[in-house]
Amino acid sequence: MINKIIKLKKIIKYLSLHNKEDLYFFKIKYLGKKGILNSLFKDFKKIHSKYEKKKIGKILNELKKNILEKINNNKKINKSNNTDINFNTDITLPGKKINYGSIHPISIIEKKILKIFNNIGFNFISGQEIEDDWHNFTALNFEKDHPSRDMQDTFFFKKNNSFLLRTHTSSVQIRYMKKNTPPIRIISSGKVYRNETISAKSNCMFHQIEGLCVDKKISFLDLKKNIEYFIKNLFGNKKIRIRPSYFPFTEPSLEIDVLLGKKKKNHIKMTKGTGWLEIMGCGMVDPNVLKNVNIDPNIYSGYAFGLGIERIAILYYEIDDIRMFLENDLRFLKQFNFLNY
Ligand code: DAH
Repeated sequence: MINKIIKLKKIIKYLSLHNKEDLYFFKIKYLGKKGILNSLFKDFKKIHSKYEKKKIGKILNELKKNILEKINNNKKINKSNNTDINFNTDITLPGKKINYGSIHPISIIEKKILKIFNNIGFNFISGQEIEDDWHNFTALNFEKDHPSRDMQDTFFFKKNNSFLLRTHTSSVQIRYMKKNTPPIRIISSGKVYRNETISAKSNCMFHQIEGLCVDKKISFLDLKKNIEYFIKNLFGNKKIRIRPSYFPFTEPSLEIDVLLGKKKKNHIKMTKGTGWLEIMGCGMVDPNVLKNVNIDPNIYSGYAFGLGIERIAILYYEIDDIRMFLENDLRFLKQFNFLNY
């Protein structure tokens, strides 16, 4: 018993109480009805030897004194406000549930993609959503009568038809090249707008990521290697297919497909039965585009790429309706908590 009391004295000596809560539990633990001190006094009563009683009684009283001193010395923290524990509260009640927010799947995918390109030297730059015809179309080598300039596709501002909501993030390339000289390695992301019928597959507003690299001796191989690196980092070892395509601002132009296969029903639906899903457009920057921003195409060359974030998110999370992204349905959004980030 003596050893136990000596040990307790030591513990009390070095114990520090930080707030009201500590003090409250200290009191209960040592002075409470079923507390340590009471139980020691009960044991003490059972001792018969007078000699033992005297010896243990002395040290037990010392312990009691130490406990009271500790409480006295810490009375101040009882008055201070450094904890918001309310002693009228029933602490046995279950705690309040904390609701964590979630991160939107588009933001998750956007950050993932930007990080991959950032790792290989692409710097993020932001663009603007209201553009003029020159930055969105003309400088990007769109012919005057190109169908995408059509009123059906583009949201023009009523008062002044030369302003519009950008239809793609490629306009960022033009703004950046006008103000900067090569070497250029940039990545940008943001909202784009198209006057399309809303359906499970398309919406009038969606998100794109745009990349541009311009320097001396940039070749097709650089483009291919970077795209392969990107897809490997995002999807792992999925098979890809590179197809010739057409964009006014790249020559040659390509489209990249990822093999989903035909095993799952929604993969068949998403790929229109081919098993291949188109995920991005890219190509070597057309010399006319470089000329439009006063970069000499005889000295410099470059590649560009653009991809729709919704498309990648659909693929990544197996979502089958693009409209879900904008509906703010908590049952949908809650699935993407910060742990998935
Ligand atoms: N701007 C194109 C679109 O909206 C995507 C794109 C394709 C961007 C090829 C590029 C590119 O930079 O090289 O469909």
